[in-house]
Amino acid sequence: MRDQWTSKIGFLLAAIGSAVGLGNIWRFPYVAASNGGGAFLLPYFFAIITAGIPILILEYTMGKTYRGGAPVTWARINKKFEWLGWFQVMVAFVIGIYYFAIIVWVLSYVGFAFTQAWGDDPTTFFLEYLGVTDSALNLGGIRTNLILPFLIIWAVIAFIMYKGVSKGIERACKICLPILFVLILVLVIRGITLPGAVDGLDYMFRPDWSALKDPGVWVAAYGQIFYSLSIGFAIMLAYSSYLPKETDVVNSAFITATANHGFEIFAGIGVFSIMGFMAMQQGVEVADIAGSGIGLAFMTFPTAISTLPALNALFGICFFGALLTAGITSMVSILQAVVSGFHDKFDVEHKKAVTIVLVPTFVLSILFITGAGLNILDIVDAFINNIGVAAGGVIEVILITRFFNPEKLRKEANEFSNFSIGKWWTYSLRIVTTVVLGVMLFLNTKDFIYNGYGEYAAADVNVFGWGAILFVVIFADFITTLQGKEGYADLDKISQKEVA
Ligand code: ALA
Repeated sequence: MRDQWTSKIGFLLAAIGSAVGLGNIWRFPYVAASNGGGAFLLPYFFAIITAGIPILILEYTMGKTYRGGAPVTWARINKKFEWLGWFQVMVAFVIGIYYFAIIVWVLSYVGFAFTQAWGDDPTTFFLEYLGVTDSALNLGGIRTNLILPFLIIWAVIAFIMYKGVSKGIERACKICLPILFVLILVLVIRGITLPGAVDGLDYMFRPDWSALKDPGVWVAAYGQIFYSLSIGFAIMLAYSSYLPKETDVVNSAFITATANHGFEIFAGIGVFSIMGFMAMQQGVEVADIAGSGIGLAFMTFPTAISTLPALNALFGICFFGALLTAGITSMVSILQAVVSGFHDKFDVEHKKAVTIVLVPTFVLSILFITGAGLNILDIVDAFINNIGVAAGGVIEVILITRFFNPEKLRKEANEFSNFSIGKWWTYSLRIVTTVVLGVMLFLNTKDFIYNGYGEYAAADVNVFGWGAILFVVIFADFITTLQGKEGYADLDKISQKEVA
């Protein structure tokens, strides 16, 4: 018997817990900052309306109709489509491995925040703490100082996962989300009352129309939406498969998206206000400190926290505590996307499926507590998001709108919804999303082929960037060919037993 959410609110909290993650607090500010600040918001909202919400409605509808994690859901739509489900699951698996590493660093930083142990030079502190080596292939051994936080986070995550969907994930979200909200609220109130905050907000909200001509800004906006809403990589398909059939998915999708992006902008207000304050203190431009990429949370923000006039420890704990709670509720959703894939196709119980997924994740995540962790993460994250998630998304919309009848799903979505979705939904998916995502995938791939990634040597990029993509494809192929339990691809047989 498959687990189910205990109520619609339980599902919504879990879905929001999945969506609101490191992407909202750590990734959004630096992606927005490196893509024209205020100018980024227009493509961002455009992407929410044309891709975020339509795809969320699509995934919720598919999950609750076909009642399975991504692979089984795709197999029930058409046996030939199962491969895409495993591709999406493997993308989630890879994301899970490094997402986990970031949470481990975050936990250490919650501890450091008490005394601002990062001192006067948080950048050097961070690099030394991680023992960062000169290349992704130079592992430099396991960092002993990371072993304890690594084991603690693993214990917490494993505990939640073994408890299952309703008793583990749903409960964890019910506990973590209110805490997260309070922590961010404290930070935002502190942020906007600081001198210089207005410069940070001006940077975040003032549109620079010329940036709109840059296709890279649009690509970044769509990329952020996929990552932030947890769409395109098996998560929302799995989560909605634990819903009763009568659920109003249209309103659930709007609630999830509004809560997620509302929170993202809200947290952004806090982060940018504090950066505005820091820029004023140091006599530099907000743009100069906001564009520090992946290191924003661990290098720039600690400096900002140390600069605050009072209660530095409190605000440091709020910031890293928020990242921690947000990260945990997303991490379990990433793992659940993989667990449900195995549980649904093969004849394995939940606990066994959890073990099958956690063991390799654990082993591979050790890579990220070596001295090469930060560099590997940077490369894998770039490739898996820009190619893996984008490919998963674009193949998804193409299969549904060109090789299946999307009107069937629209009818299914509308059947239990107060607010019916019109034909705009089909057109958004068929035309806008397909074209933008297709172009995005093409541009990203071309860029990686011709320019490699960042300053990394070709060998690093080949092993961890292209290697990650190859790994996903090969594994997806392999698992698709395995024999599943009898009738797993047959909705009628399964639903008799499981929809009850
Ligand atoms: N949606 C999750 C995040 O934003 C993965 O971090």
